[in-house]
Amino acid sequence: MALLEVKDLHTSFFTDAGEVKAVNGVSFNLDRGKVLGIVGESGSGKSVTAYSIMQILAPAGKIVSGSIKLDGQELVGAGERVMRDVRGNKISIIFQDPMTSLNPTYTIGRQLMEAILLHTNRNRQEAWDRAIEMLRLVNINEPEKRMKQYPHEHSGGMRQRIMIAMALACEPDILIADEPTTALDVTIQAQILELMQKLQKEMGMAIIMITHDLGVVAQMCDEIVVMYAGSYCERGTADEIFYNPRHEYTKGLLRSIPTVSTMGQKLQPITGTPIDLLNLPEGCPFAPRCDAAMKICIKKAPESMDINENHKASCWMNVADQAKQGGAQSASVAAQPSSDSSQPDVVQPASASSAVQTADSQTSDSSDTSDAFPQTDSTDKGGAQ
Ligand SMILES: Nc1ncnc2c1ncn2[C@@H]1O[C@H](COP(=O)(O)OP(=O)(O)O)[C@@H](O)[C@H]1O
Ligand code: SF4
Ligand SMILES: [Mg+2]
Repeated sequence: MALLEVKDLHTSFFTDAGEVKAVNGVSFNLDRGKVLGIVGESGSGKSVTAYSIMQILAPAGKIVSGSIKLDGQELVGAGERVMRDVRGNKISIIFQDPMTSLNPTYTIGRQLMEAILLHTNRNRQEAWDRAIEMLRLVNINEPEKRMKQYPHEHSGGMRQRIMIAMALACEPDILIADEPTTALDVTIQAQILELMQKLQKEMGMAIIMITHDLGVVAQMCDEIVVMYAGSYCERGTADEIFYNPRHEYTKGLLRSIPTVSTMGQKLQPITGTPIDLLNLPEGCPFAPRCDAAMKICIKKAPESMDINENHKASCWMNVADQAKQGGAQSASVAAQPSSDSSQPDVVQPASASSAVQTADSQTSDSSDTSDAFPQTDSTDKGGAQ
């Protein structure tokens, strides 16, 4: 059993303008002592996923459906008493801007001590010693002096380290780091990431590392969830995501980060804007920005498909690839009729059953199938090969 199991999570904000479907069917597992990356551009639902796990959503936000199990215990609907225990003792979160969590009017020492006294059985002297130990652990020099200082007396990088110390003080099973380095300059970013890796190894906790930058998670994550428009479009082991990307959005992300093989080449950002979460489209949410979009992509949302035992992706291109190889199972997915069967041009050739023929007949005559499944091999486009 995984330490954390998130299954088909849906979280919405009920606003005057309507229901904003911020998280729209996210699933993943996190094993004890592992590092999971949640990656996606701004507004894709990463923070709302984290806040749903912690149940610290803004008042208009509500978990609409789905399951979040911690060590087998269901947290959705578990109530505030259970969640207080979870938040204090089992899962800690650090935010992008540590000043949102550090109280500017209290000394660092007081805040660290309070966290330790509240969440562990230590007495005041032991809590003091532990606070000093935690500050040393996160590479803060002269910790005795720092304990008496206020947050504003420290740089952004130091404040983030103090936040990490505070989050770890209660020895959580899971640390959620929500863009912990985004507000910091590059050198400090690297130091904080290195520190988190070191602490993760020493303390053996599991980490959920949330970032908009796929480059950040490259080194430290065991598994990666790529989010787009509130859903995961792809998830799998870090190797699978980096070396065998199977969603066009992930491929776009990979093309937009520098790698050894792209050194000297111009990076290609993903153009276009994210979709409106108030009005989610019927088809693939990435379709308006996807160079490889086919007619079916606009008509029908792709379902999550197993690429292999370590990898899932929701992209029609995979169905097309499998259909090309004559896979009966994928052909049947491709062949599912759209809701309006009077529109035969959605998948061409027109009839559902001919999708299998589409795959088999492509070597002889591909021209009549190009609308349904383009001839380009999608794997050629991956930028991280
Ligand atoms: N308090 C709120 N009220 C209404 N909508 C919200 C609120 N917080 C977040 N959202 C919506 O949820 C989407 C996802 O937000 P978020 O999870 O913060 O994105 P990110 O991936 O950048 O962390 C946002 O684009 C926004 O539309
Ligand atoms: S399903 Fe279609 S639109 Fe969506 S990413 Fe795949 S190819 Fe592009
Ligand atoms: Mg966020």
